[in-house]
Amino acid sequence: MLKVDTILDTSSIKRSFALGNFSVFPNTILSPMAGVTDPPFRRLCRELSKNRIGLLVSEFVSTDGGSEFSLKNRKELKFYPEERPFGIQIFGRDPDRMARAAQVIESLEPDFIEVNAGCPVPKVAGKGGGAGLLRDLDRLTLILRKVKASIQIPMTLKCRIGWDESQINVFETLRIAEGEGAELLTVHGRTRVQGYNGFANWDIIGETASRAHIPVVGNGDVVSVETAIEKLKMYPIAGVSIGRGALHNPWLFGQIAEAFEGKPPFEISIREALSIFEKYFGFMMQEDLSSLGALGRLKQLAARLCKGLFPENLLFRQSLLTSETPEMFFERIALFLDDKESLNTSFYPDRLVNLNGKKENDIVFGRQFKG
Ligand SMILES: Cc1cc2nc3c(=O)[nH]c(=O)nc-3n(C[C@H](O)[C@H](O)[C@H](O)COP(=O)(O)O)c2cc1C
Repeated sequence: MLKVDTILDTSSIKRSFALGNFSVFPNTILSPMAGVTDPPFRRLCRELSKNRIGLLVSEFVSTDGGSEFSLKNRKELKFYPEERPFGIQIFGRDPDRMARAAQVIESLEPDFIEVNAGCPVPKVAGKGGGAGLLRDLDRLTLILRKVKASIQIPMTLKCRIGWDESQINVFETLRIAEGEGAELLTVHGRTRVQGYNGFANWDIIGETASRAHIPVVGNGDVVSVETAIEKLKMYPIAGVSIGRGALHNPWLFGQIAEAFEGKPPFEISIREALSIFEKYFGFMMQEDLSSLGALGRLKQLAARLCKGLFPENLLFRQSLLTSETPEMFFERIALFLDDKESLNTSFYPDRLVNLNGKKENDIVFGRQFKG
């Protein structure tokens, strides 16, 4: 059982912010993650938090390609009413295509549309989209201008702090976002070259927030109630956006919401923790997902969740990750739960603080993206 004796003092922190004509409460956001934050994962997080997540965002949606953007064969655009407030994130390098896509997507009635200026992968950033826009702020300006002009709902922007350490330009990005009518800026405190390595620079996020006239949400390395509250206390941000931490601890949003009410993070039993895989699988079965695809997603969640769940029991984690079918995966969970001794293992979902899976001082600033 998770034991947190100290009740975190949250009396002085912000718990909501305005986006368009609605209030985002609590001020926590599930970060968009391609290959992760599809409807089943988003619904899982919403349900486990008892609907206490401020915003959900889709996986990013490409606007590039040969033919005109249309809603056909775009399963990334699907969302459920219970996911609201919900935004769809788009990426691309062509201002007209971005604007057209935004206009078409608006017909699905999401609550906002987000422009991605943060994706570091070469096939996006290298072609001038995603974080590539941070090296071409004129293009970013035009994209924001055209997207804004094509929609009625709020436009938001997600960016990194810059391309590399010598080109930190997030203050300029903020100025452009404000000038072009973005209603929210989420700043991931890494550079593009950093990829997902090292730590997010929260001082730069904080400085951006302090200069802003629009809400600035901070993102990077929020993995626990403590880190979330710490960031909200230390920096003048409107809220926090949580990515990989949600895979380690999908209850995190609910725990943060309870901290706002002065309660310590609630405990999660092993049985309860492992039961979420059935729930997740159930959501997946409502989508057009193959058995193999679903197995991949179960393992993706297990890989991170079990690091906190069973720090002493790597074999169980390994047994899940080597399952060959969803049936085998669930049989192995059932076997584990039948074993009384294994149930003595503790669940420390907040234990893991380094998302790269290494101890803080072991961090290797390993693979980075090249220019
Ligand atoms: C697997 C994966 C996929 C991601 N896909 C997206 C994406 O589609 N759009 C986006 O803006 N950021 C994406 N990100 C970045 C996250 O939203 C977030 O900015 C980053 O992981 C830092 O937050 P964290 O430290 O809380 O994970 C992705 C990150 C991961 C790990």
